[in-house]
Amino acid sequence: MRRLRPYLKYFKAVRGPISAAIFYAIIFGATSGIAVPSLIKYVFPAIFNASGSLALSTVILIASAIPIAFLLRGFSSYGNSYYTQLAGVRILEALRLDYFRKLQVLPLSFLQNKASGDLLSRGLADTAQLQFTLTLIANDGVKQPVQLLGALGFLIYQAFTQQGTFVVLLALASVPLTVFPVRYVGRKVLKRASQMQAQLGNITGQFSENLSAAREVRAFGLEERESSRFALACRGLITSQMKIAKYAQALTPAIEMVSSLGIALTLVFAYYRGVQLETFLAIITALYVCYEPIKKMGGLNNEMKRGLAALDRLEFVLNEPVTIADPAVPVSVGRLRGDLAFEGVTFAYKANEPVLHSISTKISAGTVCALVGPSGAGKSTFANLVPRFYEAITGRLTIDGIAVRAMRLADLRRNVALVSQDPVLFNDTIYNNLLLGRMDATRAEVEQAARDAYAHDFIVSLPKGYDTQVGERGVLLSGGQKQRVALARAFLRNAPILILDEATSALDSDSEAAIQAALKKLVVGKTVLIIAHRFSTIRDASLILVFDKGEIAASGSHEQLYGANPLYKSLYDRQRAGH
Ligand SMILES: Nc1ncnc2c1ncn2[C@@H]1O[C@H](COP(=O)(O)OP(=O)(O)OP(=O)(O)O)[C@@H](O)[C@H]1O
Ligand SMILES: [Mg+2]
Repeated sequence: MRRLRPYLKYFKAVRGPISAAIFYAIIFGATSGIAVPSLIKYVFPAIFNASGSLALSTVILIASAIPIAFLLRGFSSYGNSYYTQLAGVRILEALRLDYFRKLQVLPLSFLQNKASGDLLSRGLADTAQLQFTLTLIANDGVKQPVQLLGALGFLIYQAFTQQGTFVVLLALASVPLTVFPVRYVGRKVLKRASQMQAQLGNITGQFSENLSAAREVRAFGLEERESSRFALACRGLITSQMKIAKYAQALTPAIEMVSSLGIALTLVFAYYRGVQLETFLAIITALYVCYEPIKKMGGLNNEMKRGLAALDRLEFVLNEPVTIADPAVPVSVGRLRGDLAFEGVTFAYKANEPVLHSISTKISAGTVCALVGPSGAGKSTFANLVPRFYEAITGRLTIDGIAVRAMRLADLRRNVALVSQDPVLFNDTIYNNLLLGRMDATRAEVEQAARDAYAHDFIVSLPKGYDTQVGERGVLLSGGQKQRVALARAFLRNAPILILDEATSALDSDSEAAIQAALKKLVVGKTVLIIAHRFSTIRDASLILVFDKGEIAASGSHEQLYGANPLYKSLYDRQRAGH
């Protein structure tokens, strides 16, 4: 139960429906546990033992106790189910939302280390499992124990008021025995449940990966390989599901076996003790009414284990610390000038494997700084430290003399515009995608930004112009068009610091020229970090940092470096040869 303490807030939010559900559950349990055996014990004999001496109206009156009891039972069952359902979906909604919110603020490094399909499956399938469990607990968790207590109470009352005390007690003794199969099965189920949820994550993972790599699948002829990989994952899930079914489905027959034994024994002893039929039937009914909740609570126990397994998987994300967060006492910053200083910055993605080694460098405001170096040298990592996508392990990074760690994340990131190598657009119109740069921009400002990025002309030539849908991730636009939309977005943002991961993919010469021209406009007056692949960009930069194996091997202007640094010379010559 202590496990559930952090989740009390979810229950508090649905106090109303839960209270209503519990209220109906108690009525239901009481009518089932007491009223039904009482009908057999008192109502039937009242009519049959009168041997025809009752007036019709009295018979009808007595008989009406039956529909009244079942009306009460049915009505309260309905009320209970309805309100638990309501509470269940509300809790699910809140839990899913919290999970989603958490994914928005977790460090990128956390997300990059997980398969997105697995995170998806946790957010959808595991929350749904938890909802199912909670609904069932709320449904049967009260109803069944009350019914059990009611029936036990009825039996004990009979034991003290009837001549068949011994028989009743004997019958009662069989009740605890039915708990053994429940415990055995429960233990077996828990082990398999977490395995099953993980396999479900695996399937979702493969599914989403496959859809995002549709082109590669066709290009490399992977259709068969992908299908058999998927079949294997499905088979894994089925195996786990069947292992759960093997135990869970055995529960009901096992309990029924034990209870039929109890009933048979009761019958034998009742015969020798001279117990009357109506008492015997009432005892048997009450016994049956006892077994029923135990059976259901056994199922509940299994479901709870599955719920706990799902909760474990959700907590894996929910309890992950948000290591990159606002400081407790942030330094208030408005628009920064853009003086960057790295002071002995070391960074590692994995512990003890640093990819940046104690880097110190200054990039003053308004500088266009090109980052060059071999693949894997740490250029992108270096640039990603500026908006604090990752956190330096030692040393610090300051902007205008203020440590980025001391600023609010929102303040810091408002000052940084980013155009990545493969920009992602949202599945929306071009206009709305542009607007993401600055949500309060006017129509005129959006169009001006598009003009500056040499995107306006191609946009208006589309049949729906700015209202064109770009498709998922922007797939309906060409690579060059997407880049220009992303540049326009950066224009609109108009942040003092600009980070550009230059595209390496070959664009057609028109797009290439347009993008180069757009870039020239965009960089004016800003501190720019540009991960440069084109020699024209490299030449135009006022400062060049040469990265090699996580260190800055040299820095300076093109003229200074070309003669002095052999690594730079070879990189530059190779770039130029490529063009
Ligand atoms: N998310 C990550 N998790 C773990 N290691 C990473 C991650 N991203 C990059 N690395 C590693 O960090 C090192 C530096 O990578 P980085 O992306 O900064 O190189 P780069 O200079 O930008 O290379 P390129 O020119 O190919 O883009 C590489 O060895 C890379 O394998
Ligand atoms: Mg890179």
